[in-house]
Amino acid sequence: MGKLVVVFMLFFLTKAMNFGGSSADEWHKSIEVVKEEEKATELHFYFHDTVSGKQPSAVRVAQAADSDKSPTFFGVVMMADDPLTENPEPTSKLVGRAQGLYGSAGQEELGLIMALNFGFIDGVYNGSSLSILGLNPALHPVRELPIVGGTGVFKRARGTAIAKTYRFDATTGDAIVEYNVTAYHY
Ligand SMILES: *[C@@H]1O[C@H](CO)[C@@H](O)[C@H](O)[C@H]1NC(C)=O
Ligand SMILES: *[C@@H]1O[C@H](CO)[C@@H](O)[C@H](O)[C@H]1NC(C)=O
Repeated sequence: MGKLVVVFMLFFLTKAMNFGGSSADEWHKSIEVVKEEEKATELHFYFHDTVSGKQPSAVRVAQAADSDKSPTFFGVVMMADDPLTENPEPTSKLVGRAQGLYGSAGQEELGLIMALNFGFIDGVYNGSSLSILGLNPALHPVRELPIVGGTGVFKRARGTAIAKTYRFDATTGDAIVEYNVTAYHY
């Protein structure tokens, strides 16, 4: 019995010492969760991916030795800064830019792994962004991509982006893609 008491005392003494030591820790603390109401926003715009010409908006930054022999260009990585416009015409109102990486991650079927920041510049959305991360089987008529986060108006966003090819030029590789995005945010 006496032994047990000593063990307990030692245990609490050690705990107390640990606690004393951690008071010097200033890099973390728990904070209260502020309950906010969830909001939802629907967006509709066109994504212009230009890989040809003198001023491409997407450029190849890496590839594997055999990428160009692969039917799916497996291993090619592109860096994009693509305009997002209100209508399909490239001259229509610029509402944002899709910036980031996409690369061929499929060997059997064309599948683009996309890690893009959709940054908006129009109206109340100016300065706000959505983050897209997912696989885009680009030859399917309609694709679904996950929204994994956001900033500004789109703080803590989750949602879905539906992509549909509006125009694809098989000679140049240039594409215009229609997007419908539903974002749930705070
Ligand atoms: C968006 O915000 C930036 C920085 O605050 C500002 O310079 C720019 O004019 C704004 N753009 C539009 C289209 O309102
Ligand atoms: C986006 O939504 C509009 C209106 O509901 C619809 O006409 C269009 O086909 C949709 N496009 C995509 C890519 O889902």
